[in-house]
Amino acid sequence: MPTSVKPPLVHAVDIIGTQDEARHLAGELAARLALTPGVQSMDWDETSASWQCTLADGGRGRLTLAAPADPAAAAAHTHRIVATFEQGTPAAAEAYFTAVRHLPFTATEIAAAVSELPLTSHLANRWADKPLSGVGVLLTIHHMRDFVVLVDSLLALGVDPGHMTVIDKEYPYAHTHRVDAHLVQRHGIAVWRYRDLRAGIEDHTARVAAAGKRTVVMDDGGYVMPTVLRELPGQADHFVGLVEQTTSGIRRVEGLDLPLPLFSVAESDMKSMIESYGIADAAVRNTLRLLPDEKLEGQAALVLGFGRIGHEVARVLEMRRMRVAVFDSDITRLVAAHEEGFLTGRSLEQLVRTHQPRLVIGCVGSRSFGAREARLLPERSFLVSTTSRNFEFDLDELRAASTAVTDRGVLGTGYQLAGGPEIVVLGHGMPINFHYAESLSNRYVDLVLAGLAVGAVALACADERLRPGHNVAATNLILAEAGIVDDYYRLYGPAAGGGRG
Ligand SMILES: NC(=O)c1ccc[n+]([C@@H]2O[C@H](COP(=O)([O-])OP(=O)(O)OC[C@H]3O[C@@H](n4cnc5c(N)ncnc54)[C@H](O)[C@@H]3O)[C@@H](O)[C@H]2O)c1
Repeated sequence: MPTSVKPPLVHAVDIIGTQDEARHLAGELAARLALTPGVQSMDWDETSASWQCTLADGGRGRLTLAAPADPAAAAAHTHRIVATFEQGTPAAAEAYFTAVRHLPFTATEIAAAVSELPLTSHLANRWADKPLSGVGVLLTIHHMRDFVVLVDSLLALGVDPGHMTVIDKEYPYAHTHRVDAHLVQRHGIAVWRYRDLRAGIEDHTARVAAAGKRTVVMDDGGYVMPTVLRELPGQADHFVGLVEQTTSGIRRVEGLDLPLPLFSVAESDMKSMIESYGIADAAVRNTLRLLPDEKLEGQAALVLGFGRIGHEVARVLEMRRMRVAVFDSDITRLVAAHEEGFLTGRSLEQLVRTHQPRLVIGCVGSRSFGAREARLLPERSFLVSTTSRNFEFDLDELRAASTAVTDRGVLGTGYQLAGGPEIVVLGHGMPINFHYAESLSNRYVDLVLAGLAVGAVALACADERLRPGHNVAATNLILAEAGIVDDYYRLYGPAAGGGRG
């Protein structure tokens, strides 16, 4: 091939469904592509059984509904939508593939997710009187398939889709674009990107206030209320209450004088006692998936932060036969780690110098590790974070201290530290359990998602036990009353064959 010819770009999406569903989805996509700016024509070509797309800048696209060549290696009922792009500009390719990626889920895919989330999907049976019909809902929950089921459930509980807004956190989840597409194309829900958070909040409050309603916030990381209270204080009264699902969100609202009740699923017993292990396990599993050729058994690992998640990560790594050290700036946590048998030390630097971890997993929730410590690591070591966004490692400092920084594709970023080792920050420092993955299994996360919806209902119904500020005890009480943990136990406890007794 002559070197001047640009190679075609290809994107394939596997969808699960009937032949009719697949045809319908591909047809809808072709119709949408025809309306994409820069697309001149979109014609069905009978001989190649594909749509041929001509672009204004001379580029060409082709869209085919294909079948996997090796069905035995694919899930049952898989269809493969293959999109090819040749010769156009990078901007045209970007617009073309953005449209291609935005494929809603098939009814078969949704039915599977619903069956995997029985607690969340049956919530409307508990409250037949549509308790959310009087409020708007603003959500920043992870864009995974489970979220689509939560949204369906909130709609069934009475939220008008026109009064719902979703902030896309812009993490690269396994199906992030399909979730976006489903919310927008199937439900008409407004989706705003995290980088446009403030505009999204303003748009939402204007829309919902015009309907004479106020809003419940369902947040995952403390994004909305800090922005409202700092940048849009005049709109604070619009909000009825806040459901928060993660500790980093609690930290971000900690210094604020919250004028509304916080339903703290993040600090609930349910979350810390049941979910933390799952997150730790998902983080380690995805780390190993990204490093299939590494041998980590018998090697040294370091866990930063011995809190709810760090504690479980340390135990999971130990079960993976790694030699695990733990660092926590809190002396009580450090003693707890020591007494559980982990190697510990008061000085992080000293611990890195002596233990020489090949794998460092950060679970602190804020900056915990920078260039000074990284320089002491052995060659080919990996930094992995479980913390929200890229807050755990000082990436700017690592960059400044490096002679070369390389993009390692799906693996993350490589840093050749000046006078030190080359290290790789997996997933570019974003929480690893979401990196081209879906973190916990749907059946596992069901309980927490149902807990978020229980919180939204309690706030919308102005449960008088929820006072402005934190409500950890009341959250535990309301979650217990809702019976979702009982149902979880019925589904997965000893009566379901999950135990010995
Ligand atoms: N990836 C996920 O799915 C997911 C889910 C929930 C939470 N999170 C993230 O995980 C973070 C940790 O959550 P958690 O519930 O375990 O929090 P936690 O508060 O229970 O634990 C944090 C620990 O870090 C320690 N610590 C604080 N500063 C430190 C420092 N500079 N160096 C070393 N140790 C330090 C604290 O003493 C504490 O033991 C959250 O802040 C959130 O960002 C991720």
